Amino acid sequence: MIVAANWKMHLTRNDAKILADSYGELVKSVHHTGVHIIAFPPALYAPYLDEAQVPWGAQSCHAEPFGAYTGDISAPMFASAGANYQLVGHSERRSHHKETDQMIASQLVAAQKQGLQVILCVGENLSQRDAGTHESVVMAQLDAACAEADWEKLIIAYEPVWAIGTGRVADSSDVNAMHKAIADHCMARLKAPRRPAILYGGSVKASNANDLFCLPYVDGALVGGASLKLDEFDGILQVAREHVQR
Ligand code: PGA
Repeated sequence: MIVAANWKMHLTRNDAKILADSYGELVKSVHHTGVHIIAFPPALYAPYLDEAQVPWGAQSCHAEPFGAYTGDISAPMFASAGANYQLVGHSERRSHHKETDQMIASQLVAAQKQGLQVILCVGENLSQRDAGTHESVVMAQLDAACAEADWEKLIIAYEPVWAIGTGRVADSSDVNAMHKAIADHCMARLKAPRRPAILYGGSVKASNANDLFCLPYVDGALVGGASLKLDEFDGILQVAREHVQR
Protein backbone atom coordinates (compact mmCIF):
# COMPACT_ATOMS: atom_id res chain seq x y z
CA MET A 1 0.00 0.00 0.00
CA ILE A 2 1.54 3.27 -1.15
CA VAL A 3 0.52 6.62 0.32
CA ALA A 4 2.12 9.40 -1.71
CA ALA A 5 2.03 13.05 -0.68
CA ASN A 6 1.94 15.78 -3.29
CA TRP A 7 2.86 19.03 -1.54
CA LYS A 8 2.44 20.98 -4.80
CA MET A 9 3.58 24.65 -4.50
CA HIS A 10 2.91 25.00 -0.78
CA LEU A 11 4.85 25.90 2.38
CA THR A 12 7.70 28.27 3.16
CA ARG A 13 11.00 26.96 4.34
CA ASN A 14 10.51 26.59 8.07
CA ASP A 15 7.11 24.98 7.71
CA ALA A 16 8.50 22.61 5.10
CA LYS A 17 11.32 21.63 7.45
CA ILE A 18 8.89 20.98 10.31
CA LEU A 19 6.59 18.92 8.10
CA ALA A 20 9.53 16.96 6.67
CA ASP A 21 10.71 16.09 10.19
CA SER A 22 7.20 14.97 11.13
CA TYR A 23 7.09 12.81 8.00
CA GLY A 24 10.33 11.24 9.20
CA GLU A 25 8.47 10.09 12.33
CA LEU A 26 5.59 8.80 10.21
CA VAL A 27 8.00 6.79 8.05
CA LYS A 28 9.38 5.16 11.22
CA SER A 29 5.84 4.45 12.44
CA VAL A 30 4.93 2.49 9.29
CA HIS A 31 8.27 0.70 9.02
CA HIS A 32 7.70 -3.02 8.25
CA THR A 33 3.92 -2.57 8.11
CA GLY A 34 3.63 -2.82 4.32
CA VAL A 35 2.66 0.87 4.05
CA HIS A 36 5.04 3.04 2.03
CA ILE A 37 5.22 6.81 2.20
CA ILE A 38 6.56 8.85 -0.72
CA ALA A 39 6.73 12.64 -0.56
CA PHE A 40 6.70 14.97 -3.55
CA PRO A 41 7.90 18.32 -2.15
CA PRO A 42 8.70 21.54 -3.98
CA ALA A 43 12.22 20.80 -5.25
CA LEU A 44 13.90 23.31 -2.92
CA TYR A 45 12.71 21.40 0.15
CA ALA A 46 13.84 17.95 -0.96
CA PRO A 47 17.00 18.06 1.24
CA TYR A 48 14.78 18.24 4.35
CA LEU A 49 13.08 15.01 3.35
CA ASP A 50 16.45 13.46 2.63
CA GLU A 51 17.67 14.45 6.11
CA ALA A 52 14.52 13.02 7.69
CA GLN A 53 14.98 9.80 5.66
CA VAL A 54 11.68 10.14 3.87
CA PRO A 55 11.58 8.62 0.37
CA TRP A 56 10.88 11.47 -2.03
CA GLY A 57 10.43 12.32 -5.65
CA ALA A 58 10.11 15.28 -7.98
CA GLN A 59 6.78 16.78 -8.99
CA SER A 60 7.95 17.33 -12.57
CA CYS A 61 11.11 17.14 -14.63
CA HIS A 62 12.38 18.27 -17.98
CA ALA A 63 12.78 15.53 -20.59
CA GLU A 64 16.29 16.67 -21.55
CA PRO A 65 19.14 15.79 -19.19
CA PHE A 66 20.91 19.18 -19.37
CA GLY A 67 20.73 22.31 -21.46
CA ALA A 68 19.57 25.89 -21.86
CA TYR A 69 16.18 25.50 -20.20
CA THR A 70 15.90 28.33 -17.69
CA GLY A 71 13.92 27.40 -14.60
CA ASP A 72 13.72 23.68 -15.32
CA ILE A 73 15.22 20.76 -13.43
CA SER A 74 16.09 17.45 -15.06
CA ALA A 75 15.82 13.81 -14.05
CA PRO A 76 19.61 13.29 -13.67
CA MET A 77 19.66 16.29 -11.32
CA PHE A 78 16.90 14.87 -9.17
CA ALA A 79 18.43 11.39 -9.19
CA SER A 80 21.83 12.73 -8.18
CA ALA A 81 20.16 14.75 -5.39
CA GLY A 82 18.67 11.62 -3.85
CA ALA A 83 15.25 11.27 -5.51
CA ASN A 84 13.89 7.78 -6.02
CA TYR A 85 10.56 8.76 -7.57
CA GLN A 86 9.18 11.03 -10.23
CA LEU A 87 5.65 12.31 -10.76
CA VAL A 88 4.76 12.53 -14.45
CA GLY A 89 1.65 13.81 -16.21
CA HIS A 90 -0.13 15.43 -13.28
CA SER A 91 -3.27 17.16 -14.56
CA GLU A 92 -2.04 20.52 -13.23
CA ARG A 93 1.08 20.15 -15.40
CA ARG A 94 -1.05 19.07 -18.35
CA SER A 95 -3.36 22.08 -18.03
CA HIS A 96 -1.27 24.94 -16.61
CA HIS A 97 1.99 24.05 -18.34
CA LYS A 98 0.41 22.66 -21.49
CA GLU A 99 2.34 19.40 -21.17
CA THR A 100 1.37 17.19 -24.08
CA ASP A 101 1.18 13.40 -24.22
CA GLN A 102 4.44 13.50 -26.18
CA MET A 103 6.22 15.56 -23.51
CA ILE A 104 4.87 13.29 -20.80
CA ALA A 105 6.11 10.17 -22.60
CA SER A 106 9.58 11.72 -22.95
CA GLN A 107 9.70 12.73 -19.28
CA LEU A 108 8.68 9.23 -18.25
CA VAL A 109 11.48 7.66 -20.28
CA ALA A 110 14.00 10.28 -19.08
CA ALA A 111 13.13 9.61 -15.43
CA GLN A 112 13.18 5.82 -15.73
CA LYS A 113 16.55 6.02 -17.48
CA GLN A 114 17.87 7.53 -14.24
CA GLY A 115 16.46 4.63 -12.25
CA LEU A 116 13.58 6.67 -10.90
CA GLN A 117 10.28 4.95 -10.16
CA VAL A 118 7.63 6.92 -12.05
CA ILE A 119 4.11 7.66 -10.86
CA LEU A 120 2.18 8.42 -14.04
CA CYS A 121 -1.01 10.42 -13.48
CA VAL A 122 -3.99 9.92 -15.75
CA GLY A 123 -7.59 11.07 -15.46
CA GLU A 124 -10.53 12.59 -17.26
CA ASN A 125 -12.07 16.03 -16.78
CA LEU A 126 -15.69 16.63 -15.87
CA SER A 127 -17.01 17.13 -19.40
CA GLN A 128 -15.35 13.88 -20.49
CA ARG A 129 -16.89 12.07 -17.51
CA ASP A 130 -20.32 13.57 -18.31
CA ALA A 131 -19.98 12.62 -21.97
CA GLY A 132 -19.15 9.03 -20.97
CA THR A 133 -15.76 9.12 -22.70
CA HIS A 134 -13.75 8.88 -19.44
CA GLU A 135 -12.50 5.38 -20.07
CA SER A 136 -11.32 5.99 -23.62
CA VAL A 137 -9.65 9.25 -22.53
CA VAL A 138 -7.68 7.49 -19.80
CA MET A 139 -6.70 4.56 -22.02
CA ALA A 140 -5.47 7.00 -24.68
CA GLN A 141 -3.35 8.77 -22.03
CA LEU A 142 -1.86 5.40 -21.07
CA ASP A 143 -1.19 4.45 -24.70
CA ALA A 144 0.58 7.75 -25.32
CA ALA A 145 2.69 7.71 -22.15
CA CYS A 146 3.60 4.05 -21.81
CA ALA A 147 4.76 3.07 -25.30
CA GLU A 148 8.37 2.82 -24.13
CA ALA A 149 7.79 2.43 -20.42
CA ASP A 150 9.75 0.10 -18.19
CA TRP A 151 6.95 -1.60 -16.25
CA GLU A 152 9.28 -2.50 -13.41
CA LYS A 153 9.56 1.19 -12.61
CA LEU A 154 5.98 2.32 -13.17
CA ILE A 155 3.08 3.09 -10.87
CA ILE A 156 -0.16 4.54 -12.22
CA ALA A 157 -2.24 7.16 -10.40
CA TYR A 158 -5.84 7.57 -11.50
CA GLU A 159 -6.87 11.13 -10.66
CA PRO A 160 -10.17 12.34 -12.07
CA VAL A 161 -9.49 16.04 -12.67
CA TRP A 162 -12.87 17.06 -11.25
CA ALA A 163 -12.04 15.40 -7.92
CA ILE A 164 -8.68 17.14 -7.39
CA GLY A 165 -8.79 19.79 -4.69
CA THR A 166 -12.58 20.01 -4.91
CA GLY A 167 -13.61 17.85 -1.98
CA ARG A 168 -15.54 15.66 -4.43
CA VAL A 169 -14.48 12.03 -4.41
CA ALA A 170 -15.41 9.72 -7.22
CA ASP A 171 -17.94 7.04 -6.46
CA SER A 172 -16.27 3.85 -5.15
CA SER A 173 -17.69 1.63 -7.86
CA ASP A 174 -16.56 4.11 -10.55
CA VAL A 175 -13.06 4.17 -9.04
CA ASN A 176 -12.79 0.40 -8.94
CA ALA A 177 -14.14 0.06 -12.49
CA MET A 178 -11.59 2.53 -13.81
CA HIS A 179 -8.71 0.91 -11.90
CA LYS A 180 -9.69 -2.48 -13.26
CA ALA A 181 -9.93 -1.08 -16.79
CA ILE A 182 -6.45 0.44 -16.39
CA ALA A 183 -5.02 -2.85 -15.09
CA ASP A 184 -6.60 -4.86 -17.92
CA HIS A 185 -5.48 -2.38 -20.53
CA CYS A 186 -1.89 -2.31 -19.26
CA MET A 187 -1.62 -6.09 -19.40
CA ALA A 188 -3.62 -6.86 -22.54
CA ARG A 189 -2.76 -3.91 -24.75
CA LEU A 190 0.46 -2.49 -23.38
CA LYS A 191 2.08 -5.81 -22.53
CA ALA A 192 2.78 -5.08 -18.89
CA PRO A 193 4.14 -8.33 -17.42
CA ARG A 194 1.87 -7.99 -14.38
CA ARG A 195 -0.75 -5.69 -12.98
CA PRO A 196 0.92 -2.35 -12.14
CA ALA A 197 0.21 -0.72 -8.77
CA ILE A 198 -2.61 1.79 -9.23
CA LEU A 199 -3.16 4.67 -6.79
CA TYR A 200 -6.27 6.80 -6.53
CA GLY A 201 -5.97 10.58 -6.22
CA GLY A 202 -8.48 13.37 -5.77
CA SER A 203 -9.63 14.76 -2.39
CA VAL A 204 -8.43 11.73 -0.43
CA LYS A 205 -8.60 12.32 3.32
CA ALA A 206 -8.76 10.26 6.50
CA SER A 207 -12.56 10.09 6.42
CA ASN A 208 -12.87 8.64 2.91
CA ALA A 209 -9.67 6.54 2.78
CA ASN A 210 -11.43 3.46 4.08
CA ASP A 211 -13.96 3.39 1.22
CA LEU A 212 -11.12 3.65 -1.27
CA PHE A 213 -8.60 1.27 0.29
CA CYS A 214 -11.11 -1.57 0.54
CA LEU A 215 -11.48 -1.59 -3.27
CA PRO A 216 -9.62 -4.57 -4.73
CA TYR A 217 -7.91 -2.59 -7.51
CA VAL A 218 -6.78 0.33 -5.33
CA ASP A 219 -3.17 -0.01 -4.13
CA GLY A 220 -2.90 3.30 -2.34
CA ALA A 221 -3.43 7.01 -2.74
CA LEU A 222 -1.86 10.16 -4.11
CA VAL A 223 -2.79 12.82 -1.59
CA GLY A 224 -2.66 16.57 -2.19
CA GLY A 225 -4.32 18.93 0.29
CA ALA A 226 -4.57 16.42 3.14
CA SER A 227 -0.84 15.66 2.94
CA LEU A 228 -0.07 19.14 4.32
CA LYS A 229 -2.06 18.50 7.49
CA LEU A 230 -0.17 16.11 9.68
CA ASP A 231 -3.21 14.69 11.48
CA GLU A 232 -5.10 14.08 8.25
CA PHE A 233 -2.13 12.43 6.61
CA ASP A 234 -1.45 10.30 9.66
CA GLY A 235 -5.13 9.33 9.65
CA ILE A 236 -4.85 8.13 6.05
CA LEU A 237 -1.76 6.10 7.00
CA GLN A 238 -3.64 4.46 9.87
CA VAL A 239 -6.40 3.38 7.50
CA ALA A 240 -3.79 2.04 5.07
CA ARG A 241 -2.20 0.03 7.88
CA GLU A 242 -5.50 -1.53 8.85
CA HIS A 243 -6.06 -2.63 5.26
CA VAL A 244 -2.62 -4.15 4.91
CA GLN A 245 -3.12 -6.12 8.12
CA ARG A 246 -6.44 -7.59 6.97
P1 PGA B 1 -6.03 16.67 -3.67
O1 PGA B 1 -4.88 16.58 -4.79
O2 PGA B 1 -5.83 15.52 -2.72
O3 PGA B 1 -5.83 18.02 -3.02
O4 PGA B 1 -7.32 16.57 -4.39
C1 PGA B 1 -4.50 15.35 -5.34
C2 PGA B 1 -3.45 15.56 -6.39
O5 PGA B 1 -3.50 16.55 -7.13
O6 PGA B 1 -2.53 14.75 -6.55
